[in-house]
Amino acid sequence: MMKTVTCTAPVNIAVIKYWGKRDETLILPLNDSISFTLSQDEMCAKTTISISPTFKEDKFWLNGKEESLENPRIQNCLKEVRRRASKRKHESGVEGTLNWHIHICSKNNFPTAAGLASSAAGYACLVYALGQVYGIEGDLSSVARQGSGSACRSIYGGLVQWYKGEEDDGTDSVAQSIAPPEHFPDLRVVICVANDGRKKTGSTIGMRRTVLTSRLMQYRIQESVISRTAAMKKAIKEKDWSKFCDLTMADSNEMHAVCQDTSPPCVYMNDTSHTVAALIHQYNDVKTTSGNVNHKVCYTFDAGPNACLFVPGAVVGELLGLLMRAFPPSPTQNTDTYITGIPIQPTD
Ligand code: PMV
Repeated sequence: MMKTVTCTAPVNIAVIKYWGKRDETLILPLNDSISFTLSQDEMCAKTTISISPTFKEDKFWLNGKEESLENPRIQNCLKEVRRRASKRKHESGVEGTLNWHIHICSKNNFPTAAGLASSAAGYACLVYALGQVYGIEGDLSSVARQGSGSACRSIYGGLVQWYKGEEDDGTDSVAQSIAPPEHFPDLRVVICVANDGRKKTGSTIGMRRTVLTSRLMQYRIQESVISRTAAMKKAIKEKDWSKFCDLTMADSNEMHAVCQDTSPPCVYMNDTSHTVAALIHQYNDVKTTSGNVNHKVCYTFDAGPNACLFVPGAVVGELLGLLMRAFPPSPTQNTDTYITGIPIQPTD
């Protein structure tokens, strides 16, 4: 007897960043954040979960390597899903299966822990798969949040807002979809991998340090990120692509500024990252008659040096040409996979 499910969950890329917690155990953020969830077909985590009365112990494999399941965040997710399942055990007949051992096998199709939101896809996938195995209904974003904060946004597609919430128990710190994937039509994401090694300072330690030491962070939390989130929601509602780009880059730059203002500083961007950012500003720098810049594309950087570029399909060829000229592939590199534009909409 065995029950098995397999799920995939895509990466999400924040355009208003989550950086800083008010509760480290429940993973409650200091500010609302907004992200784009990519399409299922591309950068995603795939998790298979089996439960069986014949299993002798719990087991966990990540990217083909056996790891300990004692990780407190995985345990928190498991505990919360099992708690919800036991609440409805009488209707579902799930009661017996709650005592069965579990085998979890998870794999990412992109570099893990390089600031490419691997934990977001991984925990969203884990929690969703657990929900399927134990027959849980309703919102799972507050469970995924307890694995990795940004994971709660990967539970939904398209543009997603994670509300920081007001309650101490985190019940209102949930993610919700605010626009469908096709809201900005034919949008692509170009990922420029400047370094695919593990990041130097993990986000948990980095955030803790920023909250404790950065004065600029006070300004971000009390003022700027609140008004920028409101402006971002307006830009999304009005489908104002240029404004969306402007705000996305401003928020990425502010997050990296508070990281620099941290003691000791958390440095995530490298020279290549700064070159990509400068290239994007140059590319955008065509003034309209009113003297404003009409942003065509934008960049954002998470806790790592790799650039995520949001690019409308109409200019993706031109931009990729520019990137290839600025960063020519080495003679041994396969140029088919060297740089590609990932569609945000499902491509079935
Ligand atoms: O969820 P975590 O702990 O991996 O933190 C993610 C933080 C950023 O990726 C830098 C920003 C974000 O909102 O995703």
